[in-house]
Amino acid sequence: MAASKSESRKPLKFLQPYIDARWGIKNHWYPALFSHEVGEDEVKGIQVAGEHIALRRANGRIYALQDVCLHRGVLLSARPTCLTKDTISCWYHGFTYDLESGDLCDIIASQEDPLIGKVSLRTYPVREVNGMIFVFIGDEDYPRQPLEHDLPHRVADDYEHRTAYPLDEDTVLLGIRRECVGNWRLAAESGADPGHVMIHRLSALLLSQNLGFPLSVKLKDKDSILIKDEGWPKGIGLDYTTLEHVMENKRLGVKTYGNTVREGLNVTMYLPGVLYVENWPDYGLAQYEWYVPTDDKHHVYWQVLAKTCKTAEERQDFKVQYDNCWEELALKSGFNDDDIFARAAMEPFYEDERGWEEETLFSLDQFVVEWRKLVVNHARGIQTPPKQKTG
Ligand code: FES
Ligand SMILES: [Fe+2]
Repeated sequence: MAASKSESRKPLKFLQPYIDARWGIKNHWYPALFSHEVGEDEVKGIQVAGEHIALRRANGRIYALQDVCLHRGVLLSARPTCLTKDTISCWYHGFTYDLESGDLCDIIASQEDPLIGKVSLRTYPVREVNGMIFVFIGDEDYPRQPLEHDLPHRVADDYEHRTAYPLDEDTVLLGIRRECVGNWRLAAESGADPGHVMIHRLSALLLSQNLGFPLSVKLKDKDSILIKDEGWPKGIGLDYTTLEHVMENKRLGVKTYGNTVREGLNVTMYLPGVLYVENWPDYGLAQYEWYVPTDDKHHVYWQVLAKTCKTAEERQDFKVQYDNCWEELALKSGFNDDDIFARAAMEPFYEDERGWEEETLFSLDQFVVEWRKLVVNHARGIQTPPKQKTG
């Protein structure tokens, strides 16, 4: 006898920490800005997992501090004021903070003030590599974790279909970031969801490459889902050697159009929400995506293409191809804009958290469920909602 809708619903107990993670998971590294977005002596304000952070570049180095002035709570980045290379000042009454320590080291309006030296703004660990700036979001006393633990695995140098790793010296990273509607969990779930790929069947990217990208896949058994939870990074992927590709649904008259097989196309998803698509959008490229929570209803969608470039000419050629082809054809209207549409469309159903109870999952959603379990079992902490509103 078929299960009724209510019977098919899963108990939510195991999922509770995931439901609680509306504002993100903490004690992880997240991308903050592209390097070119913060020039020398510039200050940029961002919001990550509800926390306001000011990024300032001085003498080439990036510093990250709490963006909320200790005095009256205004955003320092609202009117950036930097009077020396080693400080940032609040534009309102001149509280001035040491960039390195966050200590209140002067007040423009009260030079001898007894408060000086007594209080500090919070600072954040930062790493800048290959044109991207990462910040570590979490508890101030949490032991520093290597950035490598929060990035997809580095594949072996001798793997024949190897694509570029973000931290390698000869890797070039080019991409975009944009704030999108939808809680970060919906975005992360949509990234590697094997049940959704039919939405891309008419995309310009697939049609222009005659790519034999399936409507869907059949998971042969539970071993088709690869859980990488030994050590770090921790991720989840599909064993493509065990999958059956579904190219059409005859009854409904739906099919996929291409027939070229792309070697080495693998999709894996890692904590804290970073997707690695190998040999995509073309052979020899990799697409990395991050779904960085800003508040509880939006995420910053990072889309970055990576390529190994050993010479200046290769770097230049990749830039020309990126600017004139891949950004639009792969990252925007030719493919990924469909994903943005789908996430925004899910948000109302989940926004009061009832969606987790009311959703009706099908067999391919086992992958999504395993991702949720990975978060529940291995996230280093659940971000709590911000205490104060700032604007
Ligand atoms: S609000 Fe920042 S110094 Fe007064
Ligand atoms: Fe997609």
